[in-house]
Amino acid sequence: MENGAAAVAAWNFAPNDALLGLTALSVRGVLGRVKAGMVEDGSAARPVIPMGHGDPSAFPCFRTAPEAVDAVAGALRSGEHNSYAACVGLEPARRSISQYLSRDLPYELSADDVYLTSGCAQAIEVVCSALARQGANILLPRPGYLFYHARAVFNGMEVRYFDLVPERGWEVDLDSLQALADRNTVAMVIVNPGNPCGNVYTYEHLGKVAEMARKLGIFVIADEVYAHLTFGKKEFVPMGVFGSVAPVLTLGSISKRWVVPGWRLGWIVTNDPNGIFRKTKVVDSIKSYLDISCDPPTFVQGAIPQLIENTKQEFFDKTVEILRQTADICWEKLKGISCITCPSKPEGSMFVMVKLDLSCLQDITDDLDFCCRLAEEELVVVLPGCAVGYKNWLRITFAIAPSSLHDGLDRLKSFCLRYSKPTKSCDKLEVFKK
Ligand SMILES: Cc1ncc(COP(=O)(O)O)c(C=O)c1O
Repeated sequence: MENGAAAVAAWNFAPNDALLGLTALSVRGVLGRVKAGMVEDGSAARPVIPMGHGDPSAFPCFRTAPEAVDAVAGALRSGEHNSYAACVGLEPARRSISQYLSRDLPYELSADDVYLTSGCAQAIEVVCSALARQGANILLPRPGYLFYHARAVFNGMEVRYFDLVPERGWEVDLDSLQALADRNTVAMVIVNPGNPCGNVYTYEHLGKVAEMARKLGIFVIADEVYAHLTFGKKEFVPMGVFGSVAPVLTLGSISKRWVVPGWRLGWIVTNDPNGIFRKTKVVDSIKSYLDISCDPPTFVQGAIPQLIENTKQEFFDKTVEILRQTADICWEKLKGISCITCPSKPEGSMFVMVKLDLSCLQDITDDLDFCCRLAEEELVVVLPGCAVGYKNWLRITFAIAPSSLHDGLDRLKSFCLRYSKPTKSCDKLEVFKK
């Protein structure tokens, strides 16, 4: 007995075991492991180079638009947004998002098609929770954004993976997708522009995805959090364009295009001119889940109409131009690193997937080991492929200041040289074919 308290035989509480394994399925969890052995000395001459994240907001060249800041400051100062908002979100914000997204669609969305969430992450949570029913399964892309896996599994859904094909610009392997589906398959996910692959899908490919979804009797969850961040030959086409072929739930946020992931404002949008989501009550289930979850801050919701209306095209053009530049730097410099092969030049989002040839390296056991040592020895943080379901690949973020990117890729190269096997010469094409 301590401090006079009565003895307890055993505590009744225990952790939720389902949660304990989920850290391995989150980018933040894996990056935590990668950085665990890294000692930051704070030196200006050798700063940490963060090439593992999807948040470039700390770099001055990626600072958000002044109009966006004014919109939020104005909403706060107005004193009109201090209350709880409706669970689906404030009507003016929903209307303004519906008009913003309708610009790229062959039909008009209404405010009632839009549900506000705390970032796109909560949109994923809501959709996975709203869909989960006994025996249901969901089709996810591999490589992919494992947050979907974590949320689906946590809600008791079965997860099945279809492949993205690196040789075809990471297109969906529609045959493997079809083979996976059965009567209990409810939906498939596509991420366009792609995380982690940096790919952008063509109109034709998205049309085929929609036809396949229709054939299988499932709907498409289109994660378009990187919408409009494209800098190659292909324009961004929203999946909602095909909403009359198969119903589409579009998920998005202001996190990436406005470079404000900390503002936590996202959305779920029903792209469904035939009203299938209403008939099947998917919409009711989304609303019910929103009734029992937290909302994005009301003043950020209040700022949305001004933020969308006032942000100048020059701001978006500037962001895309920096990404085009940094994607070029990354592509060119990676060509000079013999144990790394990049199947295709990134055309969108902030990332590129590269294959690591471990047979060229000594003393490195796998992608995680590679990234941990790289962080420890070179202060360069890169995401191991295991965090996106692709072992022994790496996901490299190029959304950082160009000078830092040069520095980071130089350090990556000297790390690879240091661990290269002395005798082995690596033919990059051969490596990729394996
Ligand atoms: C594919 C994808 N979906 C969703 C999210 C979450 O977005 P948000 O920051 O708006 O919650 C991310 C974040 O990196 C992402 O990469």
